[in-house]
Amino acid sequence: MALAELSLRDLRCIESAELKFQPGSNLIHGANGAGKTSLLEAIFLLGRGRSFRTRLNERLIRHGQSQLRVVGHSTAAVLQHTLGVEVSRGGGTRARVDAQNVRSLVDLATCFPVQVLDPDAHRLIEDSSTRRRRWLDWLVFHVEPGFTTSWSRYNRALQQRNAVLRTGQGELEIWDAELVKDGQRISEARGRALAALQPYWADVSQSLLDQDLVLSFQQGWDRDASLAEALNAAAPRDRLRRTTTVGPHRADIGIRIHGKPVRQVLSRGQQKLAAVALTLCQLEFLKQEHGIRPSLLLDDPSAELDRDRLDRLIARIKALETQLIITALDRDFDLFGTPDAVFHVEQGRVAAL
Ligand SMILES: Nc1ncnc2c1ncn2[C@@H]1O[C@H](COP(=O)(O)OP(=O)(O)OP(=O)(O)O)[C@@H](O)[C@H]1O
Ligand SMILES: [Mg+2]
Repeated sequence: MALAELSLRDLRCIESAELKFQPGSNLIHGANGAGKTSLLEAIFLLGRGRSFRTRLNERLIRHGQSQLRVVGHSTAAVLQHTLGVEVSRGGGTRARVDAQNVRSLVDLATCFPVQVLDPDAHRLIEDSSTRRRRWLDWLVFHVEPGFTTSWSRYNRALQQRNAVLRTGQGELEIWDAELVKDGQRISEARGRALAALQPYWADVSQSLLDQDLVLSFQQGWDRDASLAEALNAAAPRDRLRRTTTVGPHRADIGIRIHGKPVRQVLSRGQQKLAAVALTLCQLEFLKQEHGIRPSLLLDDPSAELDRDRLDRLIARIKALETQLIITALDRDFDLFGTPDAVFHVEQGRVAAL
């Protein structure tokens, strides 16, 4: 899968731009603040319905404008899709695939799988569990049919249960039954996906960090109890806190070294490498086991890594044989080989070279 064409309007500092990408490697260069990362955000938005830099899509709308629009064409062998995303102030995010409004942003992800490695990658390790759940769920979604259906139903039931807890009106038990059915499915699917990923993780993390990092799945409730039992046991506490404190929405990924969380042990640069390894092992897994090759956005890939690590990372990324869209300050950036297409950005204006 690759992105062939991209056009955008009123995203961050970019008033309008059109780019034609190559299936191999593409370089976007320009000075600080020129709009390089903004272009990657536009691409990510097409495949994920959100940015990798902010939770709030409205922040992507150019100052003084009421709406942004991104349109792209993705290609895979004989398949072609046209994807479009619009974000309006106060009006949310709307997505279209092949001129049809899509029910959920999941349809975007199917037509244009995309991943990113950026200088904030370490936040996957440092921040709250939300990022790690999202990391896992993106993978699960690609390999477990029916996952997103269960996920949406679970979240609807969870909102209802939380409403009962907030208002004190209604029966908790009605929603518990719904939560249990889909919650178990979600958790089993996550567990299977993570188990299948383990050999890829062991290989990638060892090669980037020279250390054995242990990846574990924390399902979001007591390991020895069923979800039904856990919800039951948590009910008094949930009533007190007015929210559901156990379940798959509280799942996390543990990353440990010699039994200790990596956050406590590894340097910042090493945490970044661990985060990069998490993303990279998914890409290797998807390629090897499922023949899926997401486009990979690399925002300023040489930042913060020593030359030796960077070389190892580059070798593995090249071996993915996937579309690369790379940003750099320097026109001559060629760590991933001579780029097949080069763009220059200056004050939000994009030119193909
Ligand atoms: N909503 C917005 N409307 C207009 N401009 C914005 C908006 N959000 C951010 N900007 C501006 O867009 C510019 C481009 O930002 P971007 O992060 O894309 O630059 P960059 O080329 O990646 O720079 P760097 O090399 O420093 O990473 C910045 O000057 C920023 O202030
Ligand atoms: Mg940038």
